[in-house]
Amino acid sequence: MALKSTTDHYGTVAVTIHWLSALLIVVLIGSGFRAAGIEDSAAKAGILRLHLPLGIAILLLTLGRVGWWWFADKKPASMPMPTWQDRSSRTVHFLFYVVILGMAASGIGMMVLSGAGPIIFGGEASALPDFWDYLPRIPHGIGARLILVLFVIHVGAALYHHWLKKDDLLVRMWFAK
Ligand code: HEM
Repeated sequence: MALKSTTDHYGTVAVTIHWLSALLIVVLIGSGFRAAGIEDSAAKAGILRLHLPLGIAILLLTLGRVGWWWFADKKPASMPMPTWQDRSSRTVHFLFYVVILGMAASGIGMMVLSGAGPIIFGGEASALPDFWDYLPRIPHGIGARLILVLFVIHVGAALYHHWLKKDDLLVRMWFAK
């Protein structure tokens, strides 16, 4: 399978980035809501030790994805579908970029402003701060709900194409034989 995409199939690099991003986002949403729902500081720090590096990883992966599309690869042609569906899917994809970058920026903002890094990673004994005392916690919470909505729409549309329309939309985002 070619590294780059063809007119009717995504290439290995794009497919790998796509599924790795999906996995990271699922874990980030789960670990983020879990961390936010825990009172106990040590237990919360334990989850954030996973959440933070993965948050940085999705940031780097997303910047890599933008660079890949910008400089190296060209997307396959759109599948035949009504204009409103084509426009909606482009909007959802664009919003994914915006929300992921916003989540990463607000997450880093929370860390910088709260100075919680040494408590999470350095084993400092003091309790974690209340992240709601810091402004970036608000966009991080809004973004968390938005990305969940985008995820449901995105997966729902892919399954609709795969199971009901029975076209190749999902298949072309998998590793070709
Ligand atoms: C795309 C990337 C990210 C996603 C999808 C994500 C997801 C989430 C979610 C779903 C929550 C729970 C929000 C709520 O209950 O209102 C959360 C909380 C949090 N996230 Fe992230 N996050 C991301 C990146 C980051 C990064 C890069 C950092 C820090 C470097 C970070 C630090 C935190 C912290 C400190 C909390 C708050 C926990 C609390 O209030 O106790 N996140 N995140």
